[in-house]
Amino acid sequence: NETHFFKWEVEYMYGAPDCLTNIVMGINGQFPGPTIKAKAGDTVVVDLTNKLLTEGVVIHWHGITQRGTPWADGTASISQCAINPGETFNYTFKVDKAGTYFYHGHYGMQRSAGLYGLLIVDVEEGKEEPFKYDGEFSLLLSDWWHKGVHEQEVGLSANPMTWIGEPQSLLINGKGQYNCSLAAAHNSGSGGLPECNFRGNENDTCAPNILRVKPNKTYRLRVASTTALVSLNLAVRNHKMLMVEADGNYLQKFSVKDFDIYSGETYSVLFKTDQNPRNNYWIYVGVRGREPRTPQGLAILDYQSTTPTKQPTLAPKPTPGWNDYQRSKLFSKKLLAHSESPKPPANHHRRIFLLNTQNRINGYTKWAINNVSLTLPPTPYLGSIKYGINESFDQNSPPDTFDLNTYDIMSPPSNPNAAYGNGVYTLELNNTIDVILQNANMLKAGDSEIHPWHLHGHDFWVLGYGEGKFSSEKDEKKLNLKNPPLRNTVVIFPYGWTAIRFVADNPGVWPFHCHIEPHLHMGMGVVFAEGVDRLGDIPNEALSCGLTAKMLMSGSGGK
Ligand code: C2O
Ligand code: CU
Repeated sequence: NETHFFKWEVEYMYGAPDCLTNIVMGINGQFPGPTIKAKAGDTVVVDLTNKLLTEGVVIHWHGITQRGTPWADGTASISQCAINPGETFNYTFKVDKAGTYFYHGHYGMQRSAGLYGLLIVDVEEGKEEPFKYDGEFSLLLSDWWHKGVHEQEVGLSANPMTWIGEPQSLLINGKGQYNCSLAAAHNSGSGGLPECNFRGNENDTCAPNILRVKPNKTYRLRVASTTALVSLNLAVRNHKMLMVEADGNYLQKFSVKDFDIYSGETYSVLFKTDQNPRNNYWIYVGVRGREPRTPQGLAILDYQSTTPTKQPTLAPKPTPGWNDYQRSKLFSKKLLAHSESPKPPANHHRRIFLLNTQNRINGYTKWAINNVSLTLPPTPYLGSIKYGINESFDQNSPPDTFDLNTYDIMSPPSNPNAAYGNGVYTLELNNTIDVILQNANMLKAGDSEIHPWHLHGHDFWVLGYGEGKFSSEKDEKKLNLKNPPLRNTVVIFPYGWTAIRFVADNPGVWPFHCHIEPHLHMGMGVVFAEGVDRLGDIPNEALSCGLTAKMLMSGSGGK
């Protein structure tokens, strides 16, 4: 097994992701950040230097379980202290499972500011995947606002709240087009925008990604979504795709014409270049789950490899209806585990119900889970728990349930008040935990939206989705214990529930939260801790703030 060393510097820089010059977060002068490629079993070492002038930074390795290295999970206030300007933090961790992953900022809303990149893990030498292909491409999907992230954060935290609105552009590998359309020649789909003019220069920062293929081959397309807000649907004109991997786990294969992808999810699909090789074809992503105000994001599948790339002759198709949730659910329910994928334990030790509500606290708009809106403490949990610093955060556990009998999930909360909280769910090491995520009506009547929930440190089995309020009598027997897909991110649909199961076998402190960046900012998450006493010493550099810094100075504990 190899070790891959990287020296990264994070800074704010000028960039033009969608042709309009703006400020982006870059790594070593690149936006998106560099792609990490490794093999299963390898070790990745990133020395991350904070070159931001006035704020901290951390990077989270989304989908990597960090077994034995929970301090490298890259979550500010949870696994480590934010890295101060000028300082360097060492992330060393193993990538133990082949799959498609990504990394991103996990401090404030730095992911929205463009701090992200891909992390691709191949199978180890001599091992084979349950499918074959001749070549591969990766697409990192994101959404982009012209309003700066600091302004977005202030607006969300203000009373009354100023919502961030819809993104100006959708980016594929950091490239989008604003106020012009690549597809203008087709008229429809261009939204009446003029044609983009790249003068044949593919190196324009906002020129589309071009995937150069040969006819009659099979390609693997890895797709990851790190959107701040929107749910997406991806299609390749005239090409069917075979779904084979989700979040680093193999799927029972099935064929699609397009697929939905929520923030925090990754997929691999296979497609054959079996179309007329004299044409090129659009790859297109569009918004679902909220009324779209953003044109489709585009890339080109290029059979011809001529320069400049010839325009595709067929227009991109319209994205499936944004509120056709029936269609979205049908797709989600088709995702099942590959026959060799690990099976879930038959029973659970503990079941936690998490009610998702939009609330108010002293007039401020917040999201809350079982009426608690998460506010992170200044001292990271990992060090506080390991060294028994009880004053760091509320020692009472947040509630395991809400009033299942009387809460009406179909109406706005009758009492919209919630409370701030920073308590932790302490899980018994090696217990099997079920979580039932329960969606509900928002503050506004007749409105409930999608939330993609992401768990750190573990994969979980998705046991099922349902409508309305989860009922143990009626819904229990419908749960899939036979071939549920293993994932690290799953969506809850409007007014519905989603049931997951995982084994709490990874000592550390792990957030479980909505992957919509403004929702997390407004408190939409919980924190799990398990087996922290089993851990060896935590590196000092993860502890050098708040009450753990005081502890280090007084010379007790730490390393
Ligand atoms: Cu990709 Cu805590 O998130
Ligand atoms: Cu959400």
